[in-house]
Amino acid sequence: MKKTYAFITGGTKGIGKAVAHRLGKAGYPLVLTYGTDSETAESVREELRRLYAVDVHILSADISRKESIGLIGRYLENQDLRIGALVFNAGLTCRDSFEKLKWEDWERVFFGNIHFPVFLLQHILEIGRIEKGSSVVFTGSLMGIEPHSVSLAYGVTKNGVHALVKNLVKFLVPYEIRVNGVAPGFVDTEWQKAKPAEIRQNIERKISLGRFCTPEELADVYLMLIENTYFNGEVIVVDGGYSYK
Ligand SMILES: NC(=O)c1ccc[n+]([C@@H]2O[C@H](COP(=O)([O-])OP(=O)(O)OC[C@H]3O[C@@H](n4cnc5c(N)ncnc54)[C@H](OP(=O)(O)O)[C@@H]3O)[C@@H](O)[C@H]2O)c1
Repeated sequence: MKKTYAFITGGTKGIGKAVAHRLGKAGYPLVLTYGTDSETAESVREELRRLYAVDVHILSADISRKESIGLIGRYLENQDLRIGALVFNAGLTCRDSFEKLKWEDWERVFFGNIHFPVFLLQHILEIGRIEKGSSVVFTGSLMGIEPHSVSLAYGVTKNGVHALVKNLVKFLVPYEIRVNGVAPGFVDTEWQKAKPAEIRQNIERKISLGRFCTPEELADVYLMLIENTYFNGEVIVVDGGYSYK
């Protein structure tokens, strides 16, 4: 039976790309959104098509812009795509100190991490582009559980993402849609690789397994949440045994 599409925001790099590979390998046709790097998105599409022989769509849709919601909706309608798995993965941060934090940056992080997925989900339901029995998975963060020492907006919004997962469960019952989240610790993506070696070593010392998670290790958890039909309202922490000691 032909599978419905898996839709992944920020699906062209890091965690999102690893999830796209895992789902592509499992036979899901894919819709991947990204921010600005069209060249990478195109090469990821080609690679996924070649490796798994699945249909792959790519779409630039900035999660910090309200217009992106309508743009995604129109794309799904014009291409006549129906979603069976919806992964809200792309996220924003702002690392200014509390003293230098600007209202606009605080708002941008809240918009991208909270407002955008809520209203995109509402719109996709409204236009009937998501199937009954679908699964929604959010990318949260360990930093939404432990206080984040660097970005107040990031820690607070990722905690909000975890709360969204729990609270959305009842609202999605009428649509027979499940919703879960993954709270990764430290995953070796561009986001983390950009950190200075000393900071990376400090992080590794606090992880019981002594290393960052690979995006591929994490991707298996998304597949499980999508395919195991009894998970609902769960946020799975994948942190290799992190401790603040
Ligand atoms: N890496 C970690 O250790 C870690 C830990 C916990 C949680 N997370 C969460 O995991 C998610 C993915 O992080 P990652 O480390 O995989 O990041 P990444 O490797 O930097 O990949 C980011 C992806 O999101 C897209 N993106 C970036 N800004 C966007 C925007 N404004 N609008 C739409 N798409 C945008 C990028 O596309 P372009 O490059 O084309 O813009 C790319 O496809 C985020 O929600 C993050 O908070 C990461």
